[in-house]
Amino acid sequence: MQNILVLGASGTVGSLLVPALVAAGQRVRAASRHARPFAGAEAARFDFADPATLGPALDGIDSLYLLMPADNLQVEQYLLPVIAAAAARGVKTVLQSVMGVEHEPQNPYRQVELAMQRALPSAVVLRPNWFADNFHGMWAPAVAQGVIALPAGTGASSFIDARDIAACALAALTSTRFNGQAFTLTGPQALDYGAAAALLSQAAGRRIVYQAIDDARFVANLQAAGVPADHGRMLAGLFAAVRAGQTAQVSDAVERMTGRPARTLAQYMADHAGAFR
Ligand SMILES: NC(=O)c1ccc[n+]([C@@H]2O[C@H](COP(=O)([O-])OP(=O)(O)OC[C@H]3O[C@@H](n4cnc5c(N)ncnc54)[C@H](OP(=O)(O)O)[C@@H]3O)[C@@H](O)[C@H]2O)c1
Repeated sequence: MQNILVLGASGTVGSLLVPALVAAGQRVRAASRHARPFAGAEAARFDFADPATLGPALDGIDSLYLLMPADNLQVEQYLLPVIAAAAARGVKTVLQSVMGVEHEPQNPYRQVELAMQRALPSAVVLRPNWFADNFHGMWAPAVAQGVIALPAGTGASSFIDARDIAACALAALTSTRFNGQAFTLTGPQALDYGAAAALLSQAAGRRIVYQAIDDARFVANLQAAGVPADHGRMLAGLFAAVRAGQTAQVSDAVERMTGRPARTLAQYMADHAGAFR
């Protein structure tokens, strides 16, 4: 049994990882700004923007799950001090990064990966593709209105279910087999947003369509919904890789790490149908 710290514990992946680690018999410290309580885990307050919260969060910890809250852009400012503190204490670290950044030397996530690998050679990098869970998360308002308008063109993505990311995180945290390695995490099949909308329509029992739009309209739509323009532009930039076919890659890493195949998008839709109706 280890003492494992999960940052972003109440977020998309963290809220699945914490109960999975508890069920696996680990001692878990679940950290976020609001210190959401989880049965069987210790809730801790941690704020990337408040360095005084870092030491107490790491005290007595053997292994760390490190991720960036999605609505922030300070990737290096937030993650590098945590990596330095983890390295100083010899804490094994598993970083949730982003698919494809190994091909982008200037990408802040790539900079963080490299710094972590230098400081902590046993660290594990998980690079997930677009989450299926965005359909009931980030894109939920669009799904509710029946029109998913994105600058994705006809590009396909091998959407990954966050439950599979959490399962890979659990494997990386509780075993030494994956130490020092990086894994691209994808679903088993690449689908474009038109095909995803058709699956959504089936699960929801109502018509949901995909509309291809350009970056400017996407950023304007997000701004109208209260998303800051710089965050909107960052998201728009990510869709260039979708249009270029770079998110269509399918990997077998989920099966290699967990011993069972990644869930399909259809399975994700069926399991979350209640959120789409
Ligand atoms: N969504 C995708 O399709 C996708 C695809 C590939 C990679 N990724 C990457 O995955 C990461 C996001 O993962 P996720 O969606 O699981 O996270 P998330 O849901 O955005 O995480 C939110 C969590 O972070 C906490 N948090 C927010 N601000 C914080 C702060 N200042 N200090 C400490 N904790 C804070 C939140 O709780 P409190 O509010 O209580 O603090 C919550 O626990 C990002 O790096 C993103 O680039 C996402």
